[in-house]
Amino acid sequence: MTIQPLKGQKALVTGASSGIGAGVAIALGQAGADVVVNYAGNVAGTVPVIAAIEAAGGRAMAIQADVSDEQQVEAMFDRMIGQWGAIDILVNNAGLQQDAAFHDMTLAQWNKVINVNLTGMFLCSRRATREMMKRGVQPEVSSAAGKIICMSSVHEVIPWAGHVNYAASKGGVKLFMQSLAQEVAPQKIRVNSIGPGAIATPINRPAWETPEALAKLLELIPYGRVGQPDDIGKVAVWLSSDASDYINGQTIFACGGMTLYPEFADGG
Ligand code: BGC
Repeated sequence: MTIQPLKGQKALVTGASSGIGAGVAIALGQAGADVVVNYAGNVAGTVPVIAAIEAAGGRAMAIQADVSDEQQVEAMFDRMIGQWGAIDILVNNAGLQQDAAFHDMTLAQWNKVINVNLTGMFLCSRRATREMMKRGVQPEVSSAAGKIICMSSVHEVIPWAGHVNYAASKGGVKLFMQSLAQEVAPQKIRVNSIGPGAIATPINRPAWETPEALAKLLELIPYGRVGQPDDIGKVAVWLSSDASDYINGQTIFACGGMTLYPEFADGG
């Protein structure tokens, strides 16, 4: 018998039409959750994700919304709550990069990354906490009134030249997550982050698609392999389940040791 620790729980994963978000949505579905598969523009990407969740016996529904747009976020939650009645798990995954040398970075590049990666988490988490507080703990569902997971990055601690907007957004996610966790813990809402390293997805394709790029990237990963979306999916399932009930306000780095200063491995 497959163990489904999230049986009967209702999840929303933002940015779930590709990459880490798709992997997380499928993993939650396989763990028994019903999943809203949010996407911004790539509806085709949601099709295999929904098929995989349904094959695991869960319900799935694709909802379009730009997470940086307040009205679209509210409409997405209205639809989810209207149809499914509640939200138990929010995975704030939607994120993007718009890389540029700092002196050439446009305000549009700065704003886009901050709006999606950070403001999107604010808008989605605000509505989710309202719903979770309203309903409170349902002991037959979970020990917590709700679980919020923020997709951060190793770049919430590792500075990243050429990516100042992205690193600033992830540094922001760190204290967003911790401050929110502190604020809503009394209401039994758990808030944590996952800090992925290099996971093979479209966002970083140039970093792993050629043998030369891959060899260079592997120098930064002591564990010796690039991550896969399911590596993150497994952490998301654990952070969503009561197995992690006493974990609150933490970032779990899932990065093969990228945060371990690998350049010092030979003595520095
Ligand atoms: C970035 C990837 C990068 C990884 C490790 C992630 O947050 O989105 O592009 O490969 O960090 O540097």
